[in-house]
Amino acid sequence: MKQLITPILVCLSGILLAQPAEVLTLNKPSLSRGKNIMEALASRASATEFTSDELSLQDISDLLWAANGINRPEIGKKTAPSATNSQDIDVYVVTSKGAYIYEPVQHQLKLVNAGDFRELVAGRQKNFANAPLFCIMVSDISRFRGNDDSQKMRWAAMDAAIVSQNINIFCSGVGLRTRTRAFMEADKLREALKLTPSQFPMLNNPVSN
Ligand SMILES: Cc1cc2nc3c(=O)[nH]c(=O)nc-3n(C[C@H](O)[C@H](O)[C@H](O)COP(=O)(O)O)c2cc1C
Repeated sequence: MKQLITPILVCLSGILLAQPAEVLTLNKPSLSRGKNIMEALASRASATEFTSDELSLQDISDLLWAANGINRPEIGKKTAPSATNSQDIDVYVVTSKGAYIYEPVQHQLKLVNAGDFRELVAGRQKNFANAPLFCIMVSDISRFRGNDDSQKMRWAAMDAAIVSQNINIFCSGVGLRTRTRAFMEADKLREALKLTPSQFPMLNNPVSN
């Protein structure tokens, strides 16, 4: 009997250990790192290949704060502007372990789905699927007032692009690789990220060393 139970216990503990944490608390952003702003702009370029080394917790923490973190806590505003201050963009993060949503107020990542969905983000650019982390800019257009859905989609695209450019400039400033991308398997990603009908994946940025 013992011979049977031991492998079952080992297997179960393996499954439990493989389950990613529900919440990943991020480090305080390091505000003094990186090149100066003109040097970061001068070296900004879209990467054409990515390494698969894991990013450090500090890199992930700073990346997300730079992308769309709260930079004025007293009024709840962010590093990226948004049309009519609708704050429609949520940054989702996809790694080999799971899909997470970035929660700027708590400055943390919350797990939305365990599993490796990087191929869905890479889409037909399969050579990018090895990047350790993707940021996906998802707009929730229900946060815009009014009834003009085509205007809401235009604003969503603009707001997503600004967050993506924050990622581009941050990565350039600290020597990480990234690339703004519109290609992705959006319909399958909607399922993987458990999006509501008013949420749209607009752009993504793979990020690596
Ligand atoms: C809105 C937008 C969508 C893009 N989508 C993709 C994409 O799906 N795949 C890709 O490889 N590059 C994509 N790019 C990156 C462009 O191809 C790249 O910015 C362009 O070639 C200029 O190169 P640079 O960024 O190094 O200046 C996109 C860029 C923008 C601004």
